Amino acid sequence: MNIKTKKPLINKYGLCLNEYKNNTNNANIYFKRAIGKSPEMEVSKAMAGFIQKKISKNEKILDVGCASGHFYRSLKKKITSNFFYTGVDPYQIFINKAKRAWKNEKNVNFKKGNIYKLPFKKNEFDISFCSNVFIHLNDVVKPLKEIIRVSKKTIIIRTVLFDVSYKIQCVYNNKWWKDVDISPENEFDSKGNPRAYSFFNILSFDYLISNIKKISPNSTIKIIKDNYFDKKKINKSIKLEKRPLATKIVGNEQVSGCILQPHYFVIIDK
Ligand SMILES: C[S@@+](CC[C@H](N)C(=O)[O-])C[C@H]1O[C@@H](n2cnc3c(N)ncnc32)[C@H](O)[C@@H]1O
Repeated sequence: MNIKTKKPLINKYGLCLNEYKNNTNNANIYFKRAIGKSPEMEVSKAMAGFIQKKISKNEKILDVGCASGHFYRSLKKKITSNFFYTGVDPYQIFINKAKRAWKNEKNVNFKKGNIYKLPFKKNEFDISFCSNVFIHLNDVVKPLKEIIRVSKKTIIIRTVLFDVSYKIQCVYNNKWWKDVDISPENEFDSKGNPRAYSFFNILSFDYLISNIKKISPNSTIKIIKDNYFDKKKINKSIKLEKRPLATKIVGNEQVSGCILQPHYFVIIDK
């Protein structure tokens, strides 16, 4: 059997590199958001609202998994005092776009880096946030340790939570995802493992909270359901962006493909 793949598919952190590395489609979507050609994401506006309540003048914000730095647009709108923004992302394709989008901003920085080993010192930032990244991570304990380590005051994580955990792999084939060269009949290997996938994990409240408490015993944790969205705006962006698995709304819940995604903001005050 000759299976042509664009290798390596999965890196040591369980990330499907084909999804991101050369993904000009996603990079362009995030870039358009960053430069204001596409609307701000609902989550970006909500995140900026939470940060606005926490931030003081001249403080430093870190955005982990920043893509093209599109959340900065919402932060800039909401926060009127001076602040410093750094975005970190493992993929050069996103960092390049981010640097282009924000080249005229003097308080903005972008760095290539991974949440499993953030390239920053202890307490380097006052507030860190991480949106729509934990869902794609194989292990979340090291990432939690890292984001808590680099943050002095507050950490805000936006991810999908439920009463029990689900480990979900979304499996790629070249019929619907052009960045992999795996035909539908070869999605799984002979042991039944997917050849190319991304995690779409759901974490239990108990797992996440107990691990945060273990890492940072004196912190307070608030869990807030993400109801901060306008259904019409999300449904409209699906049409604009034409992305497979783009978030849609069914009832009052966000859904990706066929997976219900009850999103929450986890606010950790150290
Ligand atoms: C679904 S996008 C979310 C982008 C943005 N934070 C948002 O909410 O719109 C996931 C982002 O996380 C980044 N990412 C994936 N794995 C990562 C890791 N191990 N460390 C840091 N960022 C990661 C991706 O490159 C991508 O920019």
